[in-house]
Amino acid sequence: MDIEMLKEQICDVCRKMWQQGWVAANDGNVSVKLDDGTFLATPTGVSKSFITPDKLVRIDGEGKVLEGAPGYKPSSEIKMHLRCYRERPDVGAVVHAHPPTATGFAVAGKSLDKYSMIETVIAIGSIPLTPYGTPSTDEVPEAITPYLAEHDVMLLQNHGALTVGCDLITAYYRMETLELFAKISLVAELLGGAKEIPMPEIDKLLYLRENYYHVTGKHPGYKKYNKDGK
Ligand code: 13P
Repeated sequence: MDIEMLKEQICDVCRKMWQQGWVAANDGNVSVKLDDGTFLATPTGVSKSFITPDKLVRIDGEGKVLEGAPGYKPSSEIKMHLRCYRERPDVGAVVHAHPPTATGFAVAGKSLDKYSMIETVIAIGSIPLTPYGTPSTDEVPEAITPYLAEHDVMLLQNHGALTVGCDLITAYYRMETLELFAKISLVAELLGGAKEIPMPEIDKLLYLRENYYHVTGKHPGYKKYNKDGK
């Protein structure tokens, strides 16, 4: 995609996140990998409702600013984003937000690992809760690294949520899927608790994922049905 269109897409995703109440004030950040191995990132300290293409910052793999309007620095969480790209060459975009229901689980110290809803089982699998880390420090990238090999969606303890995808829309959709699943799980809790899908049925859903839907990315149950184990 042309870089100007990509910048517009980042701004569109930022506004969608703000409109849905997933971010307040300057919360949340988005980045995208470009063909030349550099990255576009949202600037630190700017509301996602006010992001415009000229405010985005282009950086290298170390977080060094290559292009950016005066006064705009990359997100303070850029180390977390860069770790995702470093660990996962298949990742083309990273989204971080604080969607309230999913973040409620992260704040309560609860993962979303019940295989209880068909679409989430196929699209994401279990959603782990990664250990606490001080934002902007190496603690957050260190905390998420063990989970990146098998997960595209994570809850960050006492913080929020992180999604990765082969492109920005895929990463954004994963955040949508996470928040909807968190809401459904909360309602199910109020109604007496989610009923998990039996194992043989989960196997069938994972088979569908690999052989029918061709969903990109990682899944904790992926290896079973992929010949290459990738
Ligand atoms: P930035 O404004 O630096 O991107 O930080 C927002 C945020 O959500 C920190 O967790």
